Amino acid sequence: MKGVRFVELAEEHIGPIMEIEKRSQSSPWSERSFRNELDHAHGVFIVALADGTVVGYAGAWVLADEAHVTTIAVDPDRRLSGIGRALMDELLERAKNLGATCSTLEVRAGNEPAIKLYEAMGYVGVGLRKKYYPDNKEDAVVMWLYDLDKIQ
Ligand SMILES: CC(C)(COP(=O)(O)OP(=O)(O)OC[C@H]1O[C@@H](n2cnc3c(N)ncnc32)[C@H](O)[C@@H]1OP(=O)(O)O)[C@@H](O)C(=O)NCCC(=O)NCCS
Repeated sequence: MKGVRFVELAEEHIGPIMEIEKRSQSSPWSERSFRNELDHAHGVFIVALADGTVVGYAGAWVLADEAHVTTIAVDPDRRLSGIGRALMDELLERAKNLGATCSTLEVRAGNEPAIKLYEAMGYVGVGLRKKYYPDNKEDAVVMWLYDLDKIQ
């Protein structure tokens, strides 16, 4: 993606990530949760930088042949310009290099932007986890992309 590069998560990114996280998620991760990703044995965690500024991030855990996407967010001022899609493409490419052949995730049932992004890539909703999110008891949609070679 023009003007945006992807790097692995480093300590220096955690402050800017927390700013985006608080503006993006109704139940934000703690700093500690992001720090745990710095040296997660099965993790892949990438940060999108534009002119050296953090504009988004995404993470996954690769367990056996599955890439479980754990988080993604884009700076609210930089959305709808392709960064989210580029982050997902880069994340899954790196997960593939670690042995993943398929991917799964959970998303809030009311999170239309994220669901549209995943559907556009070929993820399909396969079920609901009822009242999965403790903050508002919202359902989670469980989505799968069965073949990472078939990303649309
Ligand atoms: C979901 C999110 C990461 C998308 O990031 P983004 O950079 O705005 O997404 P992109 O510009 O790359 O959009 C890619 C596709 O996603 C879909 N999409 C993204 N935002 C959308 C919106 N507001 N409404 C409808 N579709 C949307 C579209 O299909 C879009 O493709 P198109 O532009 O060709 O129509 C961003 O909205 C975000 O950070 N949300 C808050 C955090 C969050 O909800 N994370 C997901 C947790 S599971």
